[in-house]
Amino acid sequence: MASKILTTASLGLNSFLVEVEADIQRALPKMTIVGLADTAVQEAKERVKSAIKNSYLDYPRTSIVVNLAPADLKKIGNHYDLPIALSILQENETIKCEEVLKKSIFVGELSFDGSLRKINNIISICIFAKENRYENIFLPYENSVEASLINGINIFAIKNLSELVKFLNRKIQLEKVKNLKTLEKISEYENHEYNFSLIRGQEYAKRAMIISASGAHNVSMCGSPGSGKTLLARSMPSILPDLSEREILEVSRIYSSVGLLSRENPLITKRPFRSPHHSSSLVSLVGGGGIPKPGEITLAHRGILFLDELPEFPKKNLETLRQPLEDGHITISRAQMSLEFPAKFILITAQNPCPCGYLRDETKNCTCTNLQIRNYNQKISGPLLDRIDIHLNISRVKQDELQKDSETTNLSEIKNKIKVARKIQESRFKNEKIFTNSEMGLSLIKKYCIIPIEAKKLLSIAIEKYNLSARGYFRILKVARTIADLENSQNIKTEHIAEALQYRKMEI
Ligand SMILES: Nc1ncnc2c1ncn2[C@@H]1O[C@H](COP(=O)(O)OP(=O)(O)O)[C@@H](O)[C@H]1O
Ligand SMILES: [Mg+2]
Repeated sequence: MASKILTTASLGLNSFLVEVEADIQRALPKMTIVGLADTAVQEAKERVKSAIKNSYLDYPRTSIVVNLAPADLKKIGNHYDLPIALSILQENETIKCEEVLKKSIFVGELSFDGSLRKINNIISICIFAKENRYENIFLPYENSVEASLINGINIFAIKNLSELVKFLNRKIQLEKVKNLKTLEKISEYENHEYNFSLIRGQEYAKRAMIISASGAHNVSMCGSPGSGKTLLARSMPSILPDLSEREILEVSRIYSSVGLLSRENPLITKRPFRSPHHSSSLVSLVGGGGIPKPGEITLAHRGILFLDELPEFPKKNLETLRQPLEDGHITISRAQMSLEFPAKFILITAQNPCPCGYLRDETKNCTCTNLQIRNYNQKISGPLLDRIDIHLNISRVKQDELQKDSETTNLSEIKNKIKVARKIQESRFKNEKIFTNSEMGLSLIKKYCIIPIEAKKLLSIAIEKYNLSARGYFRILKVARTIADLENSQNIKTEHIAEALQYRKMEI
């Protein structure tokens, strides 16, 4: 009878069951792996053979055929070593524990000496094992902290093959991995390199950032070099609300799938801040590749995607951002499959007003022609700008103000205000499938952004004077809703509309 060991195959962020069977036949010594196994899986043969021999276990001197089922699912990755080794050891009756094997998932890469190495995507694998009601999961010791985030399943962290074989044969006992229960303490350890309280002056921009953090509004900044655009963007994570436990799991799962977690940093507990360079390829920005992997926009999930020097990005890459900005996820389609990666982030963009950077600067003269200025700004398409609620023109802070001792910004007070505003939105949208004001569509805007007659008058004047588009009009309503929430005001008042009008897109 062929043996059967259970493991998983990963596709994007999801995992599927794979059964590993080994069959030992009387023929010349040779191992064959069948079942749509990728090159890395084929290479498992050598590692498995050496690991079993060097663990002083019995390796058959005959022909071994290993089957990875189902055969139509591509098997990629290095975690098949352990289940393959176990299927051979079960087949030659080195391990005898059918009952445990039936209820367990095994993953891990083997080294020649039989020790287990770290693998990717462990959070997703553990979630799969738990959701499908397996009792145990056996995984490499190096992955144990990541895995400890998942409760409701027995997790065993294994150092080497011989230890596992002894355990399965009931020769030794192994401790289960304890669940991580220290998440409440996370915010106390938060230490941001860039901090909102380091910014001198810039009250108008700081206020806009607070509004953005409260309602998850996308922001664009335009200003001459050195005006503090990068500093403002990088300081955003210090005022954003802490990740909830559910969000920590969601984000860590993404990072675990691309191997960006380590034993020292087993979890993502801070809101991600991703700032891809403008020379980044489309695939690294939005995800993809032969075996689709998440891109920067997915790594920015629940955090910030910062595009510095926006006009330098290829137009095609910016256009591709439109769909994920709208939907909060990206779908990557291949001939055999279609994968979806989450991508809910606040977009912050920064740019100079013109190629030389000094248009409207108080200290330096701009050397660009009108045509150059127009071409530079035309690179950013209307549909992308349409998804940005807050537009800021940033001027440089004067030297003496920069050197002033800080008028202490109370970070925790700001964070608290933002947290309250988010809570208001959460309860408002509890039946609407959205969380923040920025996500409101037309019908929700009509429902939740009722404004007084005076404000209507103000808006009609603005529409005429500034040539506001319909989209621009609705953006102002959404931002005004967030400003009202920051003040804990049930109604949008005229003053909220007046403030929101300051953040509209100005013509260059
Ligand atoms: N308002 C400010 N408060 C404190 N430091 C500032 C401020 N504005 C600029 N700086 C400092 O000036 C330098 C340039 O700022 P940066 O954010 O890189 O400008 P930009 O991205 O607009 O070119 C940074 O070292 C930054 O810390
Ligand atoms: Mg900069």
